[in-house]
Amino acid sequence: MKRVILITGGAGFIGSHVVRRFVRTYPEYTIVNADKLTYAGNLGNLADIGNEPNYLFRKTDIVDRQAVEALFGEFRFDGVIHLAAETHVDRSITSPDEFIYTNIIGTVNLLKAFRETTPVNDVKKLFYHVSTDEVYGSLEQGGFFTEQTSYDPRSPYSASKASSDHMVRAFGNTYGMPFVISNCSNNYGPNQFPEKLIPLTINNIETMKPIPVYGKGENIRDWLYVEDHAAAIDVIFHSGTPGETYNVGGDNEWKNIDLVLLLCRIMDEKLGRRAGSSRELITFVTDRAGHDLRYAIDSSKLQKELGWKPSVTFEQGLGLTVDWYLANRKWMDTIISGEYSKYYEEMYGNR
Ligand code: NAD
Ligand code: DAU
Repeated sequence: MKRVILITGGAGFIGSHVVRRFVRTYPEYTIVNADKLTYAGNLGNLADIGNEPNYLFRKTDIVDRQAVEALFGEFRFDGVIHLAAETHVDRSITSPDEFIYTNIIGTVNLLKAFRETTPVNDVKKLFYHVSTDEVYGSLEQGGFFTEQTSYDPRSPYSASKASSDHMVRAFGNTYGMPFVISNCSNNYGPNQFPEKLIPLTINNIETMKPIPVYGKGENIRDWLYVEDHAAAIDVIFHSGTPGETYNVGGDNEWKNIDLVLLLCRIMDEKLGRRAGSSRELITFVTDRAGHDLRYAIDSSKLQKELGWKPSVTFEQGLGLTVDWYLANRKWMDTIISGEYSKYYEEMYGNR
C-alpha cells in the first residue's frame, strides 16, 4: 500500500535506525524525515540511504508552527512517527528551556497540524509518539514499570516527555485522533551521540581519557539494542491498537559500574591492551542532580500481543556496538570536532 509517512528526528540516534528500516523494508512508502539538525542530528547517520527514491529530508524545527504547517501543507501524511526531542538528561538539568519548547510545544504543533489535515477517526492514520520509560520515575523498591504504572517524572527531561505523552492522549480523547505511545528503556548501538554513557565510555577508553562514573555507579538501567527498538516501533506502528501504550525494554538490567567494567574488559581485548588497563581510567565524579536510581521495563504486553522480542543478547549487541565505534573513528572525530555543525551552518544557516 502506498503511504506517505512522516518521521521526525530521523537524523538522530534512534530516528536514523527507524528511517533506514522503513526506507528499506517498505519501498512502497515515501518516508519524509523532518529534523532541525540540532547538535544531536547528523545526516551522516543516513548517508547509505540518503539517495533512495522513497526517502526525502526536510529541515524543520517542530517548534516553528509555520514551518510545521508548511510541511503538512506540502505532504498529506498517512502516519506520523514522532521521535524528535531534546534527549539528554544532564542538558535538561543545566538548561531546561529547549526541552519545554521542543518536547512539549513541538509535539503539540505536530498534533495540531496532523489533526487539521487528517480525517477524524481514520484509524489507519496514526500518530505514533515515541516516549521513554523515564516518565514513570525511579524504581527504588524493586518491581517493574508496566503500562499501568503512574507517571512520576523527576527531571526536566522526563517531565517534558511526560507532558508530551499527556498531550498526545488528550488529543486522542478530545478530538478522536488515533495514536499509539511506546515507552522504551535505554537504547545503545551505532550512531549514538557520545554524551550518553556507552559511546562516551567507548570513546574515552579508546582515547585513554578518564571515564566519568556518576556517584558510586550504583544506578541501574535496562539496556536495549537500538535495532530492536526500531523493530518494536515497526510492529507497533503497523499492528498496535490505537489508543494503547506499549512498554519496550531489554529485560537487561545493569548497574552503571558493572556495565563500565564490562566495556573495559571488552575494549582491552579488542584493542589488544593489557588486561585491566582500561579500568584504571574509571573516575567517580559528582552525582547527577536528582539521579533516578533504577529503571526496569516489563515488556510482556508487547511480547504477548504483537509478538516482539529482542533479537540479540546484550553480549552480541555490545560486541556489535564496540566494533562499530572502533570501525567508525571518523564518525566520532567529526562529531567531537563539531565539523558537521559547521557544515549545517553553511548548508542551512543553522545557528
Ligand atoms: P537524539 O538526541 O539522538 O536525536 C534527537 C533528534 O531530534 C536529532 O536528530 C535532533 O536534531 C532532532 N531534534 C531536536 N530538536 C528538534 C526540533 N525542535 N525540531 C526537529 N527536530 C529536532 O535522540 P534519541 O536518543 O535518538 O531519541 C529519539 C527519541 O526516542 C526521543 O523522543 C527520546 O525521548 C526517545 N527515547 C530515547 C531513548 C534512548 O535511550 N536514547 C530511550 C527511550 C526513548
Ligand atoms: O531510559 C531511557 C532514557 O535513557 C532516554 O529517554 C534518554 O533520552 C537517554 O538519554 C537515556 O537516559 P539516561 O540518563 O539513563 O542515559 P545516560 O546515557 O545519560 O546515562 C546512563 C546512566 O549512566 C545514568 O545512570 C547516568 C550514568 N552516567 C552517564 C554519563 C553520561 C554516568 O555515570 N557517567 C556519564 O558520563
